[in-house]
Amino acid sequence: MRIVLGVSGGIAAYKAAELARSLMRNGHQVQVVLTRAAEEFIRPLTFASLTGQKVITDLFSSASPEAALSSSVEHIGVAQEHDLLLVAPATANLLAKFAHGLADDFLSTLYLAFRGPVVLAPAMNNNMWSHPATDANLKTLRDRGHMIVDPDDGYLACGTYGPGRLAEEAKILAAVEQALQPKVLDLDGETILITAGPTQEALDPVRYLTNRSSGKMGYALAEAATVRGAHVILVSGPVALAPPTGVEVVRITTAAEMRDAVFANLEHTTVVIKCAAVADFRPSTEAKQKIKKTAARVSLELDPTPDILAELGRKRGNWLLIGFAAETENLREEARRKLETKNCDMIVANLVGQNSETGFESDANEVVLALRTGEFLPLPKASKREIAEQILNQILKLRK
Ligand code: CTP
Repeated sequence: MRIVLGVSGGIAAYKAAELARSLMRNGHQVQVVLTRAAEEFIRPLTFASLTGQKVITDLFSSASPEAALSSSVEHIGVAQEHDLLLVAPATANLLAKFAHGLADDFLSTLYLAFRGPVVLAPAMNNNMWSHPATDANLKTLRDRGHMIVDPDDGYLACGTYGPGRLAEEAKILAAVEQALQPKVLDLDGETILITAGPTQEALDPVRYLTNRSSGKMGYALAEAATVRGAHVILVSGPVALAPPTGVEVVRITTAAEMRDAVFANLEHTTVVIKCAAVADFRPSTEAKQKIKKTAARVSLELDPTPDILAELGRKRGNWLLIGFAAETENLREEARRKLETKNCDMIVANLVGQNSETGFESDANEVVLALRTGEFLPLPKASKREIAEQILNQILKLRK
C-alpha cells in the first residue's frame, strides 16, 4: 500500500526514520512529509535516503513561480495517490490543527484533501498530553474515525515520567495494518441494545447512590457495533461522554428507568449487551427535601433495584443475551455463576477497583469471556475499543 508518513516537530521525530524503514519492510511505499518544525529535528535527506523518494517539506516552493504553482496543488495529488495517512510523532500543535481544519502547511493541507484512513501517533510532554485542549482535540479526531495510537508511559525528554512518549513501533505498525483492512459490515442487519454507564438512585433532591462506572466500555461497544453496520440503541446512565455518531440514545437515570427503557426497545432487538453498572440498591424512601445534618448517626434503609439482566434471562426472546460481571475477586467463579443464574449466552467479566489500571474509569480493559460451553476466553489488556471489537467477534461466533 502507499502510505504518507507525516512527521511533525518533536524529539521523537528521529524515531520516524526507523518507522519509515519498518513500513517499507512490511511491503509499503512510503512518502514522507516533514513539517517545518520536524526539519529542525531531522533532515529530509535521512528520509530521502531511506525511502528512495523525494521528501516533501513545503507548501510553496520558493524556487520559481511555476514550481510554486505546481507544489501548491501537489497536496491534492499526494492525497489522491495514497491509501493511508500516518503522522508519527503527532505533536499537540498538529493535533489541534487537524482537529480544527487549519491548513497552513503541506501536511495540514494534505490532511484536509485526504479521504482515506488516518492514523495518529501523538508524542509530547505529559502535561500537554493531559491538557483539556489536547483532550478535546483528540476526542474530535477520534469521533472523526481516526485511529489514535496512545503514547506510552516513560521518561520524557523534559525529564518527567508519565504518558507522552511515542508509542512503541510495533503498536504503530499494528494500527496501520488494522486501518488498512477493508471495512467489514459484518453486523449489518443486527439491532444491538447496549446499556452503559452507572445508574443514580436519589436519596433526596441533592444526593444519590451510584458507582464508579464511566460508561467508556458501553460507548466503545456502541461505536464499534455501529461502524460494523449494526443499528445500535444505547440506553445510557449519566456519563460525561458524547454518544458515537449514528447511535440511537435513550438517556435514563435510575435502575427502574433503565429497566423500562430496555423492555420498551426489545421488539426489533437481536442482541442485548448489558454493560451498565446498575446500582443494586436504592434508598427505600426519597426525601422530598434535603436531609439536614444532625449530630446523631444516620442509617440508610435500602431496597434492591430490579435485576434487569436476570429478568431478561427469564424472559428470553429471539435475541442473544450478553451480561457483564464487575468483580473485585474470584473473577471466573463469579462469571460462571452469573452466566447460569441470569441465563445469559456469554458473560464479560472484568476486575474492577479503584486502583486497577483497567476497568471502570480507565481507557483500557482486560476481560475474560465466560461461555456456555464452560470455556473461558481471556482477552489480554487492550483499549476498550479493541476489547469491544473482540466481544463483537465472539457475538458473531455465537450467532453461528
Ligand atoms: N445487572 C442488572 N440489573 C441490576 C444489577 C446488575 O441488569 N440491578 C446486570 C449488569 O448490567 C451486568 C450484570 O447484571 O450485566 C452483572 O452485574 P454485577 O454488578 O457484576 O453483578 P450483580 O448482579 O449486581 O451481582 P453481585 O452483586 O453478586 O456481584
